[in-house]
Order: sequence, then structure tokens, then C-alpha cells
Amino acid sequence: MKAITFVTQKGGSGKSTLCISLAVAAREAGHTVCILEMDRQATISDWLDHRTEEGPEVAQIDATQIEAVMERLRESAYDYVFIDTPGVDSTGTLAAIRAADLCIIPCRPTPADLRAFKPTLAAIYRLEKKFAFVLNQTPPRSYRIRDAADGLAVLGILPDVNIVARTDHQDAIGLGQGVTEFNPKGQAAGEVRRLWAWIERRMQAGRTGRRTVKHAEAA
Ligand SMILES: Nc1ncnc2c1ncn2[C@@H]1O[C@H](COP(=O)(O)OP(=O)(O)O)[C@@H](O)[C@H]1O
Ligand SMILES: [Mg+2]
Repeated sequence: MKAITFVTQKGGSGKSTLCISLAVAAREAGHTVCILEMDRQATISDWLDHRTEEGPEVAQIDATQIEAVMERLRESAYDYVFIDTPGVDSTGTLAAIRAADLCIIPCRPTPADLRAFKPTLAAIYRLEKKFAFVLNQTPPRSYRIRDAADGLAVLGILPDVNIVARTDHQDAIGLGQGVTEFNPKGQAAGEVRRLWAWIERRMQAGRTGRRTVKHAEAA
């Protein structure tokens, strides 16, 4: 079992949206997945209420439960546990980072979002966790993305795909689906499948973000 934690202080950056669509994409790729929801806003539980398709399982947990729950899940048959965190720096968020094999930091290409992930990144570094940024809600093409991507690509931790702002994401969540179910041939679905493939490769790469940064600096 591998754990993927979606984390950044900035609300609205796409943690829950990506958690849902990537969980569905991972299932479509043949994996068993469960989602732990730590955000009281309960975006994922609301999504599940509208869902008619099978899986993934979702459990709402708080900071006091995560260690015990993860211990049980480590012995379980799940290939992946996805952890959706609230957009605040809290003991729960720290515990979710600690539980992670990979932290995904969704980030809109705006100065405010790019500034907001710094405390998250500091915690990830302290705990020596593997991580990746995902540029989300990007325009289809723009100089702004290029600027953001240049900064992040230098760290060697940016996927080869951005998640463009597309209504498919909003419509899918409203119907209790992932984007790959809502519009399987759509561009949003294609981007999410490519992102999942990149994440799977990254999970297997076996390097922490810190070492990757050093590696990139040395290159
Ligand atoms: N790629 C995207 N394209 C369009 N809308 C998006 C995209 N990603 C997220 N959203 C929308 O942005 C809002 C915030 O996303 P959400 O996943 O709830 O963020 P967070 O969990 O980080 O607070 C939601 O209304 C969601 O539908
Ligand atoms: Mg959320």
C-alpha cells in the first residue's frame, strides 16, 4: 500500500478535485484505492453522496485517528490510499504528510498560490518526503505558466502535464464522477490519465524530493 497526500495551505487550489479524479483514474488503471478525508468541508463525502458508480471507498477521519487508521491500512489489500487535507496548517495536515509516500501540491499559476505552498514545502522537507507540484487550473497556454513551470521544473518535481481549467472538472464532481468517467475522451480526462501515469512513475522512482533537488542543483 502506498499513500498519496494532497496538501497545500491554499484553499481552492484543487486538492479535493484532483484527489477525486486521480482516485478514479487509478481505479481505471486497475488499482484498488481508498480515500481518507480530513477536511471538515467534506467535498469528497458530498461527491460520494452523488455517486452512482462503484468505489472508491471513502472514510472521514481526524488528526487523532490517522496513525491508527494508516496502521490498519498498511496491512490491507488497497494499492493506494489517497489523503485529502484541509487548506490549513494543522496537526492533521502534518500527520497526513508524515503518512505519505508522496505529497502532491496542487498549485494555480498565480503569485498568491506560488507563495502559499512555502510552509507546506518546509514541512515536507523536514519530514523528508517525496513530493510533486501539479499546476492546476492553468489557462491552455500562457506566459504565466511558463514562468511558474520554469521555477518548478528546475526542482525536477513537476509533471510533464498541467491540468488546464476546464468545466469538465466542476461538472464531473457535481455528478459524483471523476473527469475520466464524465467525459472519457475529453481533454481533462486525457490530462488526468497522463498525470496519474506520471505519479505512478514518480512513486517508483525511489528518491525523496530533497535528494531530487540536490540532484537538480548539481546538474
Ligand atoms: N482544473 C480545474 N478546472 C476547473 N475547475 C477546477 C479545476 N480544479 C479545481 N477546480 C474548481 O476549483 C474549486 C476549488 O477546488 P477544490 O478541489 O475544492 O480545492 P481545494 O480542495 O484545494 O480547496 C472547485 O470549485 C473546483 O471545481
Ligand atoms: Mg478541498
